[in-house]
Parts: sequence; structure tokens; C-alpha cells
Amino acid sequence: MITITPSPAHLAAAAATFCASTISEAVNRRGRCTVLLAGGATPQALYEALSRVPYADNLPWAQVVVAWGDERLVPPDDARSNQRMAFRALLDAVPVNPAFVLTADTTLGPDAAAAAYEARLVEAFGLAPGEVPEFDLVFLGIGPDGHTASLFPGMAAVEETTRLVVATPAPDPSGPARLTVTLPVLNAAGAVVFLVQGAEKAAVVRQILGADGDASADSGAALLPAQRVQPTRPGAVVKWFLDEAAAAELR
Ligand code: 6PG
Repeated sequence: MITITPSPAHLAAAAATFCASTISEAVNRRGRCTVLLAGGATPQALYEALSRVPYADNLPWAQVVVAWGDERLVPPDDARSNQRMAFRALLDAVPVNPAFVLTADTTLGPDAAAAAYEARLVEAFGLAPGEVPEFDLVFLGIGPDGHTASLFPGMAAVEETTRLVVATPAPDPSGPARLTVTLPVLNAAGAVVFLVQGAEKAAVVRQILGADGDASADSGAALLPAQRVQPTRPGAVVKWFLDEAAAAELR
């Protein structure tokens, strides 16, 4: 399901509406909603929209469990931190239960940080060995190369099928290493929401969605990481929120 909006501001507003209904429905049905946040720049406007009226006041924030799909291994106060962005844009402004905000410890080394974050997810979801956390709502962005979370094309993290969280280098060797959840976690989601804006994403959007927005992944070509997000849970949905610039190559 694809929603194309005239601007990034409209994209944030449309995604906020869907997010709010998903949170409310999950809490009404199961008493909580588990949300996996995306990093990067695109989601910030959505998080800010959720931090304002009407959502700040009328969503059951105390029943929302928050985690991150990926994080850069930088200090918590570093401007590149995905966690820092989400706290400043949303989590510091709404009454979430701090015990339900599952942050990663980025002061640890890469493998230790990944193991610690996986252990935190296992504990929060009460998982038995081999089980995968089933997030109700997963936000993702994509890069021009088709990466999502920190699953970059050609890197081992994309092929991980056992661990829930791994450390991975970033393609840019000068950039910080990353933590990322793996595809089994993304594919256990109830709802996946891709948030994509900007002309630099138009080509990869067309590659993933097809010119008519009806791409069924071509089994022949090597799939991009974002194309391998294909949730298998019964009733799972994948929604794309695009601005017109990112949708420019779609008919
Ligand atoms: C990150 C994200 C990454 C991001 C895309 C798009 O930590 O950077 O997890 O996957 O979603 O790179 O980033 P922008 O929204 O900044 O274009």
C-alpha cells in the first residue's frame, strides 16, 4: 500500500495518522504496542508530529514499548545518534514508561553492544531461545543503495538468520560501526512502514516498487535489503509513505 504526499510535512502527517491508529488498536487488543523506530533524518518530522497535539495527549504512551531498528555506535549525545534524535523529537515529550524504552548501550564495543541489545530485546519480549520479537509497528527508511536499518547490500548482516541484533560496519569506512536488527526481526512485524522522501530516493523506490508500484520481487535479480523485508506474520501489512520527489519515477 503506497501513500504519496505532496511534501515531507504531509508525509509525516499521513504516517502519524497511521501510526496513531496502529498504536491505539494494538493497546486496545493486547494491552501494549511494540514499536521499532527508524533512524536517519526522514522519521524526525513524524516523531515530532506524534509529540504534538492531538497525539501527545490522546495516545496510550504508557503502554508503548519502544526499541530501535538500528543505531550508530557513537556516544549517546552525538548528533549522529538515532536514539538521541528520537528522544529529542518525541520520547522526551510524551509520557512513555522509561522501563519500556529499550535503548542500546553504544558505549560498549560493537559485538558486546549487539549482544547486550539482543539480550535486552529477549528479556523485554520474554523470548525463549530461537524466538523472534514480534513488533506491532516497524518504521524503516531506505538509502539510495537499497539498504534499510543498517542492513547494507552485500554485508553479512543481511544474511544473518539466527541472531536478532548484529554489529556491522557502515559502507563509509570513516563512519561509525552500527547495530542493526536482522531480517528475521523485521519480517516478524505486524506492520512495516517505509518512510521515504527526496529525489535521491526516486530511482531505488522505482527499483523496489516497480514503475506501477506493483512490484512482485523478481526472483531472478539479487534483492536489495529493503526488498527482503517481506513480513510473514498472518495479516502483516507493508505500507510506503512517499513524498512526490521520492515517487517521481513511479507512474
Ligand atoms: C540510519 C537508518 C538508515 C536510514 C536510511 C535513510 O541509521 O541511518 O537506519 O537506514 O533509514 O539511510 O536515511 P535518511 O532518512 O536520512 O535519508
